[in-house]
Amino acid sequence: MVTIMEIPPLSDVDDANGWAVLAENALWNDELVSMLGYDDLNDSDTAALRLAVPSSRTVRRRWVALLDPDDRGIVVGAANATLPVRDNADLAGVEVIVAPEHRRRGIGSALLERAEQWAGAEGRHTLQSWATVPGMVAEDAPSALRPTLGSGAVDLAAASTLFMQARGYSLEQVEVHSMLRLPVPPEVIDPLEADAAAHAGGYRLVSWQGECPAEYVDDYATLRIAMVDAPLAGLTFEAETWDADSIREVEQRVRQGGYLTLTTAAQHEASGALVGFTQLQRLAERDGSAIQEDTVVIAGHRGHRLGMLLKTANLRLLASTWPAVRRIHTWNADENDYMRSINIALGFRPESSEGAWQKRR
Ligand SMILES: CC(C)(COP(=O)(O)OP(=O)(O)OC[C@H]1O[C@@H](n2cnc3c(N)ncnc32)[C@H](O)[C@@H]1OP(=O)(O)O)[C@@H](O)C(=O)NCCC(=O)NCCS
Repeated sequence: MVTIMEIPPLSDVDDANGWAVLAENALWNDELVSMLGYDDLNDSDTAALRLAVPSSRTVRRRWVALLDPDDRGIVVGAANATLPVRDNADLAGVEVIVAPEHRRRGIGSALLERAEQWAGAEGRHTLQSWATVPGMVAEDAPSALRPTLGSGAVDLAAASTLFMQARGYSLEQVEVHSMLRLPVPPEVIDPLEADAAAHAGGYRLVSWQGECPAEYVDDYATLRIAMVDAPLAGLTFEAETWDADSIREVEQRVRQGGYLTLTTAAQHEASGALVGFTQLQRLAERDGSAIQEDTVVIAGHRGHRLGMLLKTANLRLLASTWPAVRRIHTWNADENDYMRSINIALGFRPESSEGAWQKRR
């Protein structure tokens, strides 16, 4: 049988326990490549180590499964649990992975049990986990599992579906992972941008690379809090706590993890307030693909096509700043019709589905 070893949080990126973080990252990277056929979503070792050092916003613990307790070279599985510190005091995010040749032997269950026990001891009773399933399943297909609320489906027969159900989790939301191939043809982006601009009188756009300019950072924190307005279906999640200090802390971690960002925000001309933003991110060392991160327009400023205006402007910025990028990936709740219709109009197409699983314990 395997030995499960608990790994304390890293003190810094050179911490002697970094081997466990790198082993876990390698398992996930291999899994993503085997599921999707490309490494666009893989984390670099630098990013994995940086994110394993605790921040003031989250505490994370991990466990690795070893075939031989004296041989750290053979890690056959890993799990981690992440606890938000400033908000969502009942919540823990959990992740578990087992090397393909060691599955169906109880290792995943044993790892997850350790993660859940620790979360419980820390007072966290709502557990959430996200699992990628290649391809899409129609809601009315015989192999479809539908979420309790919300729309979409994941494959009933996928290992993660069977595993999460066996561990007592219920499917609460389906996220669609979509990909946009670049360049977006002018006949697609030009009219979308012109139409959005024609509806967005009274707003102007501001963009930045990397850190948010000091004059906007308080507004930017308010926009990050507004992300709670994204559809949650059956997931329990409360608004995150953000302020200028936490924006700066996260920006520093992103930069030290080797990531570059491009952000475009919409400014309400009459008040000067930022009322929406969108962000693209990529690893500095991987110039062929990028991730579309959060986009939000705050209540009271919706209905002016700011979502489309923000996205077309940030895509233009990407084309001039990171010209080698050929693919952009993004995730949206299946039922998030507003955001998905913008993405579909720009040319995003579904690649895989992601089940959002939750259990109370
Ligand atoms: C999901 C995963 C972690 C399961 O690991 P595992 O070590 O095979 O899991 P276990 O052996 O503990 O399985 C526990 C139960 O889950 C169910 N199960 C897991 N995988 C299954 C599969 N491929 N087919 C059918 N049932 C399965 C079974 O009920 C199983 O009990 P049983 O073997 O007694 O029938 C593994 O398949 C994996 O790493 N997948 C990729 C990463 C992932 O999707 N992680 C989950 C979300 S974070």
